[in-house]
Amino acid sequence: MRKLLPIIGTPSDSHPGGRSSLTCRYRCGDACFHEVPNTSDNEYVGDVIAGAMGRRAMMRAAAVVTVAATAGAAGVAGAIPAAAATESISASSSKNSKHGRAARGLRYTSVEPNTADAVTIPDGYRQNVVIRWGEPILRGAPAFDPENQTGASQAGQFGYNNDFLALLPVPGEHRRQLLVANHEYTDEVLMFRGYDPANPTRNQVEVAWAAHGLGVVVVEEDRRTGALTAVPRHPLNRRVTATTEFRLTGPAAGSALLKTSVDPTGRKVLGTLNNCSGGTTPWGTTLHGEENFNQYFANGTRTTDKRYGLGTGATERKWERFDKRFDVAQEPNESHRFGYVVELDPYDPTSTPRKRTALGRVKHEGATVRLTDDGRPVVYTGDDERFDYFYKFVGSKKMKKGSSRAAREHNLTLLDEGTLYVAKLTGDSPAIEIDGSGKLPADGEFDGSGEWIPLATATAKGAVSHVEGMTAEEVYVFTRLAGDKVGATKMDRPEDIEPNPHSGKVYVALTNNTNRGVGTNAAADEANPRNANKHGHILELTERHNRADSTRFAWSLFLVAGDPEDPATYFAGFPKDDVSPISCPDNVAFDPHGNLWISTDGAQLGSHDGLFGVATKGSRRGELKQFLTVPKGAETCGPLVQDRRVLVAVQHPGELTGATVENPLSVWPDGPGKIVRPAVVAVWRADGCDIGV
Ligand code: FEO
Ligand code: CA
Ligand code: CA
Repeated sequence: MRKLLPIIGTPSDSHPGGRSSLTCRYRCGDACFHEVPNTSDNEYVGDVIAGAMGRRAMMRAAAVVTVAATAGAAGVAGAIPAAAATESISASSSKNSKHGRAARGLRYTSVEPNTADAVTIPDGYRQNVVIRWGEPILRGAPAFDPENQTGASQAGQFGYNNDFLALLPVPGEHRRQLLVANHEYTDEVLMFRGYDPANPTRNQVEVAWAAHGLGVVVVEEDRRTGALTAVPRHPLNRRVTATTEFRLTGPAAGSALLKTSVDPTGRKVLGTLNNCSGGTTPWGTTLHGEENFNQYFANGTRTTDKRYGLGTGATERKWERFDKRFDVAQEPNESHRFGYVVELDPYDPTSTPRKRTALGRVKHEGATVRLTDDGRPVVYTGDDERFDYFYKFVGSKKMKKGSSRAAREHNLTLLDEGTLYVAKLTGDSPAIEIDGSGKLPADGEFDGSGEWIPLATATAKGAVSHVEGMTAEEVYVFTRLAGDKVGATKMDRPEDIEPNPHSGKVYVALTNNTNRGVGTNAAADEANPRNANKHGHILELTERHNRADSTRFAWSLFLVAGDPEDPATYFAGFPKDDVSPISCPDNVAFDPHGNLWISTDGAQLGSHDGLFGVATKGSRRGELKQFLTVPKGAETCGPLVQDRRVLVAVQHPGELTGATVENPLSVWPDGPGKIVRPAVVAVWRADGCDIGV
């Protein structure tokens, strides 16, 4: 049945990027209202009419080869023991579509689009709140008291606005797993009663510093109910905040560009900011992308500041009043120390987390890892900005297996040496056939070939730039400029990128870009085929010979999002009368069956954001099914799909224009009279069986 959309319009306060104005203000510093930071004139796909059909056909043929190297990446999650009962498969919660039985892993009744102030899940499933903002996790941390938060109390409690989630095994502790979460940003008006944005207090700022960062907390499954709950005061529990000490590592560490008055070494920095998505490494660490770091820095006036979207005046949160490092005029290089991929060893609560400069400095959405055939790490990472690029890092050192101290220490150096590449895509249809409406070209597909252009290579002896006119240090610190110079392809907000552990194909979520084709901005091209792209799309990339370290690839659009009734939408060729509407794909994840799960940010179709599953292979390829929706004002983040559990981070619930602590516009998760709180939610099948089988 067609999934009906609720009869409501786009929220009246919705901004061009699809979110409420409050989200724009606090999450990305009103990025949509600022000029597009990429004003470079490098060419885009539509400029290049490819004649590479022979190569493309060859790459397609290579795509059917299965990949063994990704087994390591899947292994960490795959090693987690299934905890629920092992009963036979029940089809009771499945609903067959009119096109037959859904793919294994997706046999649930699609959730209809809706605007309920709740997490809405399929029939036959159960849910619980695993952990909320402010719950104490460290020994000595006080109970949450929203009226009396301090920086010290918040530093022992779960942070705000959970985003990326990882679950890792806890050796020797039955039914327990280690949850690692990003705390991307703070919504001061929803956190502090009587908050005055023009005059934040020192205490409020200190709470915000402590509410940013990362959270590590052991969670335990209740065998009887299936619920997952936090284990406070576990020795592995940890908080990392905006003031935790980090080490800068890799080719830019120690560079003059990273030195400050407080840190003349250019190797030590306090805190991590705006951690959006991330990844889990095959060697048991977690990666965390520093995304819209620009919004925390005042008075940025240099060309390079502009390319990263730093503002010229005061910041929204006014942190520069309380710590001069947030004022570019006083501490010019501090902002150069943010915008990296962070690596955390969650098994060592005393370890110093690292910022990996070899992966470049952009607004990293996330970072996902696979291994080459010979065991070297490959990391994919997007730069979430309209008309920006996506990247790949190929390491030169092999991972050591096992959990010995020597292996762990070695593996913590893997992301410091290797080559950083940026993607350039070429369409295979004549540019004239890409008219910006989303109409498929004559060959029936938005597709083509691509190359990974090397930007710089880091070795133990030093780093070499591959970009004319830029030193290696400049490439690593001003990576966007390097992408401009080599003619990388301007994409519609490249967010999460993730390789499918089953097939090796890589999926790139392109959230939206309402500026595409508007004014002097780049017009639609085959990889970004809609002007004023409101709903986004997902690109499927096949590395040549399915090798993670290839420098060439084939690509095609897997999904062009929107209301299926909109002729511009495309669901990998699956009949459109039986798929869920979707808008603004953002984070992606894979279930154990190789299905792609997509969370959305900024749904433009009247329904709340949600989580969707879609088969990537077989006769059901493209059958998109909605699994859940989130409460008012919220975004669905950090999806994680295990055999028997789905985890989502419900981020910024109630973040709607005009909302304050006194005037909440959502009452999730605890009902009327209680402060709205971002939280992690677990969903499982009531009968204890595997998800969607
Ligand atoms: Fe934090 Fe790109 O979303
Ligand atoms: Ca084509
Ligand atoms: Ca995101």
